[in-house]
Amino acid sequence: MSIDWNKASWRSLPRIQMPDYPSKSELAEVERTLSKYPPLVFAGETRTLKKQLEAVSKGEAFLLQGGDCAESFNEFSADSIRDTFKVMLQMAMVLTYGAKVPVVKIGRIAGQFAKPRSAPTEKINEVELPIYRGDIINGLEFNKESRVPDPKRMLQAYTQSAASLNLLRAFSKGGFADINHVHSWTLGFTDEERASRYRDMASRIQDSIDFMSAAGVSGSNSSELNSVDFYTSHEALLLEYEEALARIDSTTGLPLAGSGHMIWIGDRTRQPSGAHVEFAKGVQNPIGLKCGPSTTVEDLKLLLSILNPQNEGGRVTLIARFGAGKVQDYLPKLIKCVKEEGAKVVWCCDPMHGNTIKSISGYKTRTFDSVLKEVKEFFEIHRLENTVPGGVHFEMTGQDVTECTGGVRDITDEDLSDRYHTACDPRLNASQALELAFLVSEELARLKSNQLNAEKV
Ligand code: PEP
Ligand code: CO
Repeated sequence: MSIDWNKASWRSLPRIQMPDYPSKSELAEVERTLSKYPPLVFAGETRTLKKQLEAVSKGEAFLLQGGDCAESFNEFSADSIRDTFKVMLQMAMVLTYGAKVPVVKIGRIAGQFAKPRSAPTEKINEVELPIYRGDIINGLEFNKESRVPDPKRMLQAYTQSAASLNLLRAFSKGGFADINHVHSWTLGFTDEERASRYRDMASRIQDSIDFMSAAGVSGSNSSELNSVDFYTSHEALLLEYEEALARIDSTTGLPLAGSGHMIWIGDRTRQPSGAHVEFAKGVQNPIGLKCGPSTTVEDLKLLLSILNPQNEGGRVTLIARFGAGKVQDYLPKLIKCVKEEGAKVVWCCDPMHGNTIKSISGYKTRTFDSVLKEVKEFFEIHRLENTVPGGVHFEMTGQDVTECTGGVRDITDEDLSDRYHTACDPRLNASQALELAFLVSEELARLKSNQLNAEKV
């Protein structure tokens, strides 16, 4: 951390994608209130996560990051948190099977409320209104009142995040026994030919669990399988909220973002001399940095030196999001830059944000195949570069929504209107997310066997 950093130093720098609140005094009042509330996460937890991410960067663990594009006040429920948590545990188990290393699980949850947008306004039938920027800022409803930024929404976002974390902590420690019935996971898979591949893998996973249980190594009642580490993350976009929740870690005396375990900088707000990078550089949390087609080698170099001057392992996760068919154009030069700098990073693939399209029916969607294609390209380039494809980052939900097309249950364009609930980008549903985990697991298994063969030679 540079000496001139403080939790408010971002305020003197150019900021984009943040709202202009009509009442400065209301905003200040909310900030005062929030700054007295307890942090949502604790320094020790973020240190543990950093260690685990360091293991990811070395290929000794794999990262699974996933959750809503935007959390919503209306869709908030215990069931939806439970379902997302559950499907992430299932995915993690499937990935562990392929990767043969532990899976670090980070939700886009308990704070993922603020959204960067590509246009400041939205027009429907000749009516133009300010764009929706996430429930922490304004309302999704298309009317003038709802689109006015309201600072009090930060208090509701904090409350919802605290309640979500409370439930997640209970689920993480309290046991989640039915997670061990792997067979039941593939019951909803309809395409018999494709599903049989997954059922085979599910059987093998179940066999391994049964064997360990019988051998007394680790049974279904053991704490190993019933207690998990689950972390939270979000884009640190709304800096008034972030600043108000920043705290000093009493053990090290260093600042911490108290709003979530990991925070990331979005593809639109990663200007090296902008407000968002300034805030992130001074807090000790693991930091994610989205890298899109416009990320230049020069910027990446600079950003790595700003965000991680000590080259600490686990501090920076580069979240690549280029779009299927484009990874080859952009990723190799960034990998080369990281190699030249000797920078310690986690490479993570976000195959969602470069693959958003408008369906014929008018819905924003993503095809399952393009998502899978980008992941495969990411893996292939890392294989060629001899670097570690550390993890995957998905927009997904445990609910049975119809927002992305394709997958084993073959959601079509016409199906999208059935259960399209996202407040922002389209998410994989539970079945699509799990199917993707099976396919990524196969990639990981292939990588593992290549490495073993290379070692033998
Ligand atoms: C997101 O993760 O929801 C997002 C907006 O991503 P990006 O910054 O990569 O566009
Ligand atoms: Co999104």
